[in-house]
Amino acid sequence: MSARKIIIDTDPGQDDAVAILLALGSPDEIEVLGITAVAGNVPLPLTERNARIVCELAGRRDIPVFAGCEAPLKRKLVTAEHVHGKTGLDGPQLPDPTMPLQDTHAVDFIIETLRREAPGTVTLCPIGPLTNIATAFERAPDIVERVEEIVLMGGAYFEVGNITPAAEFNIYVDPEAAEIVFKSGVRLTVMPLDVTHKALTTAPHVAGFRAMGTEVGRMVAEWTDFFERFDKEKYGSAGAPLHDPCVIAYLIAPGMFTGRHVNVEIETTSELTLGMTVADWWGVTDRPRNAMFMGGIDADAYFALITERLARL
Ligand code: RIB
Ligand code: CA
Repeated sequence: MSARKIIIDTDPGQDDAVAILLALGSPDEIEVLGITAVAGNVPLPLTERNARIVCELAGRRDIPVFAGCEAPLKRKLVTAEHVHGKTGLDGPQLPDPTMPLQDTHAVDFIIETLRREAPGTVTLCPIGPLTNIATAFERAPDIVERVEEIVLMGGAYFEVGNITPAAEFNIYVDPEAAEIVFKSGVRLTVMPLDVTHKALTTAPHVAGFRAMGTEVGRMVAEWTDFFERFDKEKYGSAGAPLHDPCVIAYLIAPGMFTGRHVNVEIETTSELTLGMTVADWWGVTDRPRNAMFMGGIDADAYFALITERLARL
């Protein structure tokens, strides 16, 4: 079986970094065509820098990294330094990247790649706000039907919001972009907080990162030590949700997850519930089912996969 071709669209973010490392540690299953940075957890100059740092940490200076949109389609950027720190990758001291940023804009890379590769052979993996993806779809509608699948981290229903009482961060930052993606008709698999909040970085899992005895293991453990402090205090939980690697783990081992194919629509007008992913979980409307909305995960298998694959780097 040939490796699945993907583009990771990201706003690193410690959990984004682990997702990128998981993809790069799984070359038999995943071929990363490129990494496109978007403004989100921290502004774009930092997210593109951080994406390059992670590629260099993985020894993959060959992976092309592109800078994308620096602000949401119609709103002011909201960032999350309170969770991820000023740099977005706070925790360990990190050297500046030396690999170059690509000159091509991320949106152009997404469009060109989808037009070049055979239809239905490229999966988009957004793990930040959906601004780059939506901009590409708006600028080049012909690429929409060429996308194999979108597997994204974002949204929340039973778990409710993390940036407002109603909304999850990635969707909240650019709800208009999310609406474009969720209405695009592309096969869509969603990893909401409903599932990521069941993948907590408990002490044994973080000890497993450290026990790798590698630079990657040390970095991931120190990233986790930093970003989990916010969620542990907020939720009183035994660890922090390791959100973004769920997208990559799904590509490698989909059986690790359970969910339901339902209608999901995005709130884009009410200030009270802006960015909410309204999932018709019980089928009480005749709205079209447009998303595989995940809710269950085998957390032990998830962390075992991450540890096993990152140990290869
Ligand atoms: O709400 C969690 C999401 O927001 C994750 O993708 C995290 O990296 C932040 O971008
Ligand atoms: Ca992210």
